[in-house]
Amino acid sequence: MDKIKFSFEQALIQPHEYTYLKPIVQAAHASLHSGEGAGNDYIGWVDYPTSYDQVEFERIKTAAKKINEMADVLIVIGIGGSYLGAKTVIDALTHSFYNELPKEKRKTAKIYFAGHQISGTYLTHLLEMIENESVCVNVISKSGTTTEPAIAFRVLKKALEAKYGKEEAVKRIFATTDEKNGALRALATSNGYETFIIPANVGGRYSVITPVGLLPIAVAGIDIDAFMTGAADGQKEYANENIDENPCYQYALIRNVLYNKGKAIEVLVNYEPSMAFLAEWWMQLYGESEGKDGKGIFPTKMNNTTDLHSMGQMIQDGPRHVFETVVRVEQVAQDIVLETEEIDLDGLNYLAGKTMSYVNENAFKGTMEAHLDGNVPNLVISIEKQDAYNIGKLMYFFMKACGVSGYMLGVNPFDQPGVEAYKKNMFRLLGKK
Ligand code: PA5
Repeated sequence: MDKIKFSFEQALIQPHEYTYLKPIVQAAHASLHSGEGAGNDYIGWVDYPTSYDQVEFERIKTAAKKINEMADVLIVIGIGGSYLGAKTVIDALTHSFYNELPKEKRKTAKIYFAGHQISGTYLTHLLEMIENESVCVNVISKSGTTTEPAIAFRVLKKALEAKYGKEEAVKRIFATTDEKNGALRALATSNGYETFIIPANVGGRYSVITPVGLLPIAVAGIDIDAFMTGAADGQKEYANENIDENPCYQYALIRNVLYNKGKAIEVLVNYEPSMAFLAEWWMQLYGESEGKDGKGIFPTKMNNTTDLHSMGQMIQDGPRHVFETVVRVEQVAQDIVLETEEIDLDGLNYLAGKTMSYVNENAFKGTMEAHLDGNVPNLVISIEKQDAYNIGKLMYFFMKACGVSGYMLGVNPFDQPGVEAYKKNMFRLLGKK
C-alpha cells in the first residue's frame, strides 16, 4: 500500500521542540479517539471509511450510472464542504480539460458546479450553456437551508421542469442532505427525489468521504472503492499513537511548533495544476476548524510555478511569519520529453532529453533552497501518484491532522459559529422573517 511521506527536515526547528509537543499530540489523540473532546458530536468522519452504509454506497454507484445514461451534464449544487471536496477529487483525477473533451473520450457526464456564490450572471451563463444538453442535478446541503444552494436549486429546478415536465424532472434530481431535518429534506420527500444521507455526526468540511463527495466523484468515472480504501488505510495508519511512526500526527505537531514561534500563516503549495483545488478544500478545512477564539494558523495557497511569478517575492523577502507545506506527487501522470532544435534560438537545448517533470522537480528544489535561505520553514507531504487511492488517503490525512491540530490549539475544530455572523446581517437586510 502506498505510504504518504511527511518531511520536516527543513522546518527550521530544534529536535527538542518536536519532543516537547509530543504529549500535547498524545492528549489530542486521546480526546479524539475517546470521543470526549470538544465538538464530539461531529466526529463521525473518524471511522466513517470503515463503517459507512454499504447499501447506500452501492446505491451511489447505481445512481452515478443512471445519471451517465440519462445526461450529458451533471450540475452539482452546494457550497463550502458541500462542493469543495468533490471538485478537488474530480480536478485531481480527471483530464485537465474534462468538460471540453468530446463525449467519446470523456465517457461520463460533464460536471458543472452551482450554488457556491450568489451571482445571477454565473447562473444565467450556466443556463445558456446547458440549453441544448441533457441535464441531471445533484443538490447537496446538510442543513438544507443554506441560501446560496437554495437559490441556485430553485432556479435550476424550474429550468428542469420547464424542459422535461415535472415528472421527468423528478427522475433527474438527486438530493444529498440530512436524514430527517431541513428544507431540502422536506422538498425531496414532497417531490419524491432520490436522496442520499449526510450523517448527522459529520460536518460539511469533513464530508468528502460521504455521499456529499462520493456521488459527483462516481459520476466523473472515478473509482470510489479505491478512494474509500485509501481513506480506510489512512484511518488505520493515522490512528497510530506512536508519533514517530505517524506522519499525520507529525504534521499536526510541526505546524503547532511553527505557530508557537510566530509563523501565523501556512501556505499550501503544489506544483501540479490539477492539484490546485486541493488547496481550496484544505483552506476551508483548516480555516473553519482552527480560526476561533482569536487563534489559528491562517491558511493560504500557492500554485507553483505560476505563483512564483506573483507571490514569490513576498515569500522570499516579505515579513517572516510564513511557513510552506508543499504537496508533492512523486510519479506524474503524463510527461513530455524536450527535444533538441538544430538552431538553439530559444536557448533551451541544454534541456534536450529532459522531461518537464524533471524541470518542475528542479523548480521545486530551487524554490525550497531559496525560501530556506530566506528563513521560511518548508514542510513536504509526498504522495506516490495521483490516483483515487492516494487522494482518498491524502484527504483523510489532512482531516485527521486538522482534528488533532485543532485540539492542540485549544479550539473546537468541529463547529463554525463565526459563519453565522454574516448570515444574520444579510437576512436582516433582506427582510427574512
Ligand atoms: O463545513 C461546513 O460545515 C460548512 O462549510 C458547510 O459545508 C457549508 O456552509 C454548507 O452548508 P450546508 O451543507 O448545510 O448547505
